[in-house]
Amino acid sequence: MDSQISSGGGQREIRVHVPAKVNLALAVGPTRPDGFHELATIYQAVDLIDVVSVGARGDDAITVDVFRADGTPGPAGVPRDTSNLAVRAAELVRAELARRELIDPDRLPGVDLRITKSIPVAGGMAGGSADAAAALVACHELWGGGLGSEDLAGLAARLGSDVPFLLHGRTAAGSGRGEAITPVDDSGRYHWVFVTSEQGLSTPQVYREYDRLVPDPPRPRIGEALLAALAAGDTPAVGAALSNDLTAAAVSLRPELGALITSIRAYRPAGVLLSGSGPTVAILADDAESATRLVTELRRERGAKNVHVGRGPATGARVYRPVH
Ligand code: C5P
Repeated sequence: MDSQISSGGGQREIRVHVPAKVNLALAVGPTRPDGFHELATIYQAVDLIDVVSVGARGDDAITVDVFRADGTPGPAGVPRDTSNLAVRAAELVRAELARRELIDPDRLPGVDLRITKSIPVAGGMAGGSADAAAALVACHELWGGGLGSEDLAGLAARLGSDVPFLLHGRTAAGSGRGEAITPVDDSGRYHWVFVTSEQGLSTPQVYREYDRLVPDPPRPRIGEALLAALAAGDTPAVGAALSNDLTAAAVSLRPELGALITSIRAYRPAGVLLSGSGPTVAILADDAESATRLVTELRRERGAKNVHVGRGPATGARVYRPVH
């Protein structure tokens, strides 16, 4: 099988590539009985790619190691123990395969996970959820498969609200707490520039601040203008229709984000908004050349490691199959 990649010792290894996400619209409604907020969102996957490799072990342990894109250990803030969401994903798919007797429940297989990160950490681009989606796909493949895409989406939803979208990729609407995914007609190609902050923001804290600022939000809905702009692949119209209800809450916790967004507007891009719960700011450029120009200017001001380019829509978590 071409999905089997030989590692040094000839042992089987599976490698999965997974994108980051940006929310083109994020409408936040009332808190539900389970404590999550009702959402109406449009996700787009962008090609800032994390790589998750899994290799079989001789025992039943699940380990994780994390690297930067240049191969050095890091980055800080990503757990290297069982609290890593990717480890929980591996445990969940193993338990489900054992429950259905697709693997031997009395001899559970172990796995070494290796995550190479390009997605900013704690940035509102779903890096942790992306790694969990990738670990689900990789372990499922390593252990022989047998679950359908609906089954995997169900497991993904148990791991986090964004995880089902990162399996799906492209451009899609999210409802419920964000986990119920419906594809959206999108004929465009989009050039993004992302400005990250050294200090991440806590998603639960941003939602709590939202509750304080907006105690009685209406039912969330997505405007027709964004859906029409995506169907037409009309970048300026998409840019004009970007929206994020969490912006005021994130700016209230981190006032310099407001100044950053204002300073970026001076470049007159097609659009600019906070990505998810922040603190990453997502800039939609008019085209590839404008994106390159913007990156050069922003890197001069903010340093190279805080400015990233990404194109959307990208595919969801996929097994990497080398071309021979
Ligand atoms: O689902 P996930 O684990 O990614 O959510 C992280 C946190 O974000 C939740 O614990 C909750 O505080 C907040 N959240 C929310 N409503 C949602 C999604 C996330 O309140 N629909």
